[in-house]
Amino acid sequence: MEPSLAVVDSVEFLVLVDNSLDSLSSVPKHVTLEWPRLMRNGMKELSGEWQCCANHGLSLLVTARLGDISRTVLFDTGPENYVLERNSPRLGVDHAAVDGIVLSHGHWDHAGGLPAAVRLAMAASRNRPVDVFVHPGMFRQRAMTLASDTILPIKAIPSPQELEELGANVISSDRPQLIFNDFFWISGEIPRVTGYEKGFPGHLRRSEDGSSWEPDPLIMDERFLTVKVRNNGIVIFTACSHAGVVNVLRHARGSFPSTPLYGVAGGFHLSAGNEKIIPETVEDLGTFGLSVIAPGHCTGWRATNALVRAFGENVVTPSAVGKTYSL
Ligand SMILES: [Fe+2]
Repeated sequence: MEPSLAVVDSVEFLVLVDNSLDSLSSVPKHVTLEWPRLMRNGMKELSGEWQCCANHGLSLLVTARLGDISRTVLFDTGPENYVLERNSPRLGVDHAAVDGIVLSHGHWDHAGGLPAAVRLAMAASRNRPVDVFVHPGMFRQRAMTLASDTILPIKAIPSPQELEELGANVISSDRPQLIFNDFFWISGEIPRVTGYEKGFPGHLRRSEDGSSWEPDPLIMDERFLTVKVRNNGIVIFTACSHAGVVNVLRHARGSFPSTPLYGVAGGFHLSAGNEKIIPETVEDLGTFGLSVIAPGHCTGWRATNALVRAFGENVVTPSAVGKTYSL
């Protein structure tokens, strides 16, 4: 049965953390750049001290509005506390407005800033506990196999216990969830249906007893976030797309068959070993009729260029820190 996701009047998302900055490239009308936002928040003179910083990771501040109600989700938190702490005040983020934090999957570059995100939200709201939505499979330590066959461990993400000690209210589930007035839907696990999206070869996780590494190419703890916008359709936030961005969009379309897909934003993971599936991915992305594509984080420049060539500059606006998209 189709989830009863609310139809909101609009959604806006601010790129709080991403791999890149791009303060100068022109953008279509529905996107604003970092510098006007810095000026609104007090920058009187252009300076290095006022600039945000980029780092390998992603954090999107997503606000959905219906009438005079607005609900806000912080979708991922970037790789470390510093980036979130530096960029938030410069971009004028009101962490008191953050209703909850949704973690996309258990990787450092999305979860490393969780302690700062919890602290900022609680400090801004006089210690009201902030909801943090996780999947139970996120907390096993991960590693990747390098070309030399060396195993490079990935820093463990903050545990539910650590988050609760900071004051978070941790909600752990592997199921789809409607949250915050049903303005947002968290997908649950993403079915793998395309033949060419094979996950992350060489990705490992700790065995249950902690004694060894075991293959974990599918990263099944990954979820995406959706909002349904009046007159437009479903907007999908996918942070790293280890499931494959086409699998993500197929699951979104299958979950909401009565509403067209409108936009997709986040990391499409078409870099490194996945560069070889750029042609199939771009071709299949064309079947969804998307009006807005905001590739960022792990998408990679080759895929970003291929997307712009295929769908044009009015549809594809690469993500960068400080950009705000209003849909
Ligand atoms: Fe990532």
